[in-house]
Amino acid sequence: MKKAVSSFEYEVYKSASQLTESDQILIHEAKEALKKSYSPYSKFKVGASALVKGGAILSGANMENAAYPMCICAEGVLLSSVEATFPGETIETIAITAKSSSVKLLSPPTPCGACRQLISEKENRQGKSIRVILFAENTEIYVIETIKDILPFSFDGSVI
Ligand code: THU
Repeated sequence: MKKAVSSFEYEVYKSASQLTESDQILIHEAKEALKKSYSPYSKFKVGASALVKGGAILSGANMENAAYPMCICAEGVLLSSVEATFPGETIETIAITAKSSSVKLLSPPTPCGACRQLISEKENRQGKSIRVILFAENTEIYVIETIKDILPFSFDGSVI
């Protein structure tokens, strides 16, 4: 037996002003997307935006349902919107934010496992990593170079 270690590095910023103008715009759009959230049950708004190759930015927010398991995460809404608008186009960067009406977020929100898998599939399909920016109001900003960093040992279609 031997032991192996899996770890990754990510960037941590104190403020959006330390990021590029392009990232700042994406962050702004993710924040704006919070307004589109339909989350009467959890009262937890999630907004996500994507910079698509060529410069277009799309966004989406979580969409809940009285039948709870049918809730759609912001990332799923966003990726569906990208595919509907620019089928097969490359996503360069995704920004994700969240706002709760009851809890003050002390660290950036991180995508659920299912959403990591969704983004991972898109990465595999486009053959290019997707940068992920995570932030909330008054938290640090995390920049992750590829979704695979936060989905180690990901399942991919090559084994099917
Ligand atoms: N949610 C997202 O939109 N994205 C995630 O990655 C995790 C959770 C939503 C689903 C639900 O509407 C609310 O956050 C609380 O779980």
